[in-house]
Amino acid sequence: MTIDQTFVDFFSQRKHIPTTGSSLIPRPGDPVLFTTSGMHPLTPYLEGDPHPLGRRLVGVQRCLRTTDLDEVGDPTHLTVFEMLGSWSLGDYGSEQTLRWGYELLTEHFGIEPGKLSVTVFGGDDQVPLDQESLRTWQSIGLPIELTTGDNWWSNGPTGPCGPDSEIFVWTGDGEPEGTPTTDDRWVEVWNHVMMRYRRHEDGSLEPLQQRNIDTGLGLERLAMLLEGKKSVYETELFEPWTRIVPELWKLDEQDERIVIDHLRSSMVIVGDGVHPSNTGRGYVLRRLIRRVLTLLWRSDDTRTLSDLPMELFEHTSRHFHQGEVLSLVRRILIDEEIRFSNLLDRGRVILSHERFHKTLDESDFEYLHETHGLPRDLVQSLVG
Ligand code: SER
Repeated sequence: MTIDQTFVDFFSQRKHIPTTGSSLIPRPGDPVLFTTSGMHPLTPYLEGDPHPLGRRLVGVQRCLRTTDLDEVGDPTHLTVFEMLGSWSLGDYGSEQTLRWGYELLTEHFGIEPGKLSVTVFGGDDQVPLDQESLRTWQSIGLPIELTTGDNWWSNGPTGPCGPDSEIFVWTGDGEPEGTPTTDDRWVEVWNHVMMRYRRHEDGSLEPLQQRNIDTGLGLERLAMLLEGKKSVYETELFEPWTRIVPELWKLDEQDERIVIDHLRSSMVIVGDGVHPSNTGRGYVLRRLIRRVLTLLWRSDDTRTLSDLPMELFEHTSRHFHQGEVLSLVRRILIDEEIRFSNLLDRGRVILSHERFHKTLDESDFEYLHETHGLPRDLVQSLVG
């Protein structure tokens, strides 16, 4: 059974109803560009609206985080990833969710209890120490670290939030050492948020009308741990990518990871109906595709996305349960490549003008952008 099936089955057997999961595009009226966490589509229900499927839910939600963009290229960060989630909408509390979390990780995923460690919210001037979580972990017998900032979760500056308890797995070679905040061989796998408050604009907290639980477990990271791999890219989930991309293009490890991540994410974003553009979602997509092309063309400007085999498009669309016409997704990526290539050619011609044979200042950047449509980062890469 796959990891996501095991997760969904475990919670279904405990009376959670599977949700279908939403696309990366939040519901109309939501100010956020993309779905960034599993709870995001559930926000109104965490705030008290009755959910049509009941008070216990389980699901798999694709998410996109651009806050982690600079970290992509390391072993664990991805722009698009999948979050396995379980929710109690005012039903059970933290003791129950942590006990189930421990049971699933140790008995069903086979992680040794000795390789687990947890963190718990230690309290601050607004919210007291999370006693219930602390007592639960003490009775289970795991090492516990108390923190404040690291154990508070919110999806933005305002809205539902609360203290959380995070479960870490030891990934070092020898016996576990140190603690999650002092040794990064402790990798966070599962966050259990006691979503009980709403943060207002002025920073104040108001208790929500119901005490919720929102948990999130990153699928790719869990696969890495369970398969005993050192990076998410080495897992089964990335099999066609890590086989095919090195055959197409020779890149160093970090660039190869960025190319794989950004191409896979671009396919998923296009598959959710976004086209490249200069604003909003389309701009995020455009930046991802252009970063790939910049890396590919650094050593060989004949490289082209036209070489990507349909197998990668098929695998990605199947994995993310998307129905877009794959030839259209491919066409959109290739059209963006042509547009970027033309823009670069035009940029080179304009920048070869004598006026720009000097260190460029603000007025040059403004002129190049407004008159010639050359964004600053593109100009910098051409003159750099
Ligand atoms: N919302 C929490 C997170 O994204 C738990 O799902 O980590």
